[in-house]
Amino acid sequence: MHIPSWPQADESEADLLRAVLESPQWGGFHPFVAEFEQSFAAYQHARHGISAFNGTVTLELALEVLSVKAGDEVILPAISFISTATAVSRLRAIPVFVDIGENTYNLDPLRVREAITPRTKAVIAVHFGGTMCDIEALGAICREHDLPLIEDAAHAHGSEWNGKRAGSFGIAGSFSFQNGKVLCSGEGGMLVSSDDRFAEAARSVANCGRMAGRSFYEHVRLGTNFRLTAFQAAVLLAQFERLPGQIERRTANVKLLKELLSGVEEIIWQEQPAAVTANSWYLLVGRLPVGNRDEFTTALAAAGVPCTPFYPHTLYQNPLYAEGGCRVMDCPIAEARVRDSFWLPHRVLLGDDGTTEAVGEAIRQALPTAVSTASLL
Ligand SMILES: Cc1ncc(COP(=O)(O)O)c(C=O)c1O
Repeated sequence: MHIPSWPQADESEADLLRAVLESPQWGGFHPFVAEFEQSFAAYQHARHGISAFNGTVTLELALEVLSVKAGDEVILPAISFISTATAVSRLRAIPVFVDIGENTYNLDPLRVREAITPRTKAVIAVHFGGTMCDIEALGAICREHDLPLIEDAAHAHGSEWNGKRAGSFGIAGSFSFQNGKVLCSGEGGMLVSSDDRFAEAARSVANCGRMAGRSFYEHVRLGTNFRLTAFQAAVLLAQFERLPGQIERRTANVKLLKELLSGVEEIIWQEQPAAVTANSWYLLVGRLPVGNRDEFTTALAAAGVPCTPFYPHTLYQNPLYAEGGCRVMDCPIAEARVRDSFWLPHRVLLGDDGTTEAVGEAIRQALPTAVSTASLL
């Protein structure tokens, strides 16, 4: 079985990196940075792209520009990478952890409605694993309560809901280009937005408080330096060329894998709402409703299929939040999913002829014996 490695690069990365190396500008003012910002924002159906050195600071930037302050509450899912929550905490605001849907791994809009209080200042929705959350329902709730919606789209490059791409629904979409992401430069991030005022303020904060059209040493607001380097932009421009083809391949391989495993009732895959018209397939997420998840993932890894037994905690179960500093809604589903779920990383879905068949066979072999026998009866 040949599972491709990740990240992948060829001469196109090398050529663009060399061009930067031979230029007098290695930092964020090289034209590659603006070129990538414009191309990627347009790809995600947004007007503006503000790049930064990772997808953690882009979340902090979005909240800061929205004037989220100490004591304000920000609603987010109980299942995500820690940055979704720490971006809130680092502004001394209060993350409010809300449960996910039974099989969506994404915010449950009904639970979001229950969590809103007069202190709520924003909602952060995550498109977990690349599968879009119900962004229309969440958008409607946010509009009703006049709350800004931020999309943490760190997993969702190219993902769509009814033909509209991740990051283009909320006031801002935050992307990560960290080493494992489907579009990567080792580290990197971008905020996309179609709100001109928000984008102008975000760009200014991320660039030392400068403003377009004003002089280089004029700083109009309290800013900082979040700029992406030209080396990162060079790698991203090359990676970006491959992204659509890779999404196509992963989509075809997920379809094939699910067909090959169609009789296997021991695995419940992450739900794909009909409105999800494209998926980055950053992660193929599933769960074992019965049987030992850890034995399954260990057996799968031993057979050569990379597989992660999910996050060990909901966000609020991390030691960081043991002392409080957050508000936790009832999250029975999130707590169950950390015990029964797993994911396959996207490189498993990038294989050539025969790889997906081999992965499917390895999954069948790794299923808990008692459970697979039961399914035959
Ligand atoms: C959902 C989510 N949000 C934010 C981040 C943070 O991105 P970065 O690692 O680029 O800081 C990640 C990173 O893995 C993530 O998975």
